[in-house]
Amino acid sequence: MPDVERVQPGDDIHVERGEISVNRYGPAARVNHWITAASLILLAVSGLALFYPSLFFLTGLFGGGQNTRALHPYFGVVLFISFFVFFLQLWRANLPTRTDVKWVSQINDVVAGREEKLPEVGKYNAGQKFIFWSMAFFILVLIVTGVMVWQAYFAPYVPIETQRIALLVHAISAVLIICVFILHVYAAIWTRGTLRAMTRGTVTGGWAFRHHRKWFRELASRRRVDPAE
Ligand code: HEM
Repeated sequence: MPDVERVQPGDDIHVERGEISVNRYGPAARVNHWITAASLILLAVSGLALFYPSLFFLTGLFGGGQNTRALHPYFGVVLFISFFVFFLQLWRANLPTRTDVKWVSQINDVVAGREEKLPEVGKYNAGQKFIFWSMAFFILVLIVTGVMVWQAYFAPYVPIETQRIALLVHAISAVLIICVFILHVYAAIWTRGTLRAMTRGTVTGGWAFRHHRKWFRELASRRRVDPAE
């Protein structure tokens, strides 16, 4: 397994009002991330509304049962396309490395917040990489099984027995991706200073040094010193 932690185009260290700031996501990646987030939330709410009778009241948010059923697959197409673009930008930086194996073997230290005992990590730690790949996997399964049961266009070409299996796999994947989503949002809030990576696009030098030191070191070693700073 290679041990190359990747730095992405646009990642850079600079000084902002006397403080070290590190570029983590450009505007296009951030807009895309929030389109992805909004479409997954809309999908989850509209999907749950159709999934269980006591949640049917949620269809009111989309203008009733008929509209919810009609809109749900389109939210899915938006999610698939936006995540696909995001995937193309990020997959290399999420490839597993030897550091990840060590990080996972010290999961007790991760949960206890003993970060000083963990190996230095690159742009993403093994937990983030796990979330990335599981989201990619479940989104793929959801779009394939979703298309198979999309009554308006494709379902008439799929045998009913196959549609039943597809729906079961679709529902199980939906429940699992909602769990992954909760984990992702929890981690983004739990690790203080992370949210601004996806709002402002930058993190502080302290955040980068503390949580992603290998990435920070790599950026620092590449940096030309600007005499104006
Ligand atoms: C309201 C919900 C969400 C919040 C608050 C949120 C927040 C964040 C934040 C702060 C980051 C930057 C983390 C970092 O760079 O260390 C991030 C990255 C990311 N988010 Fe979200 N996110 C949300 C929803 C989603 C959804 C629904 C998806 C996908 C279906 C998603 C996929 C990703 C991916 C793939 C990354 C890059 C991390 C990686 O490549 O390992 N996010 N998110």
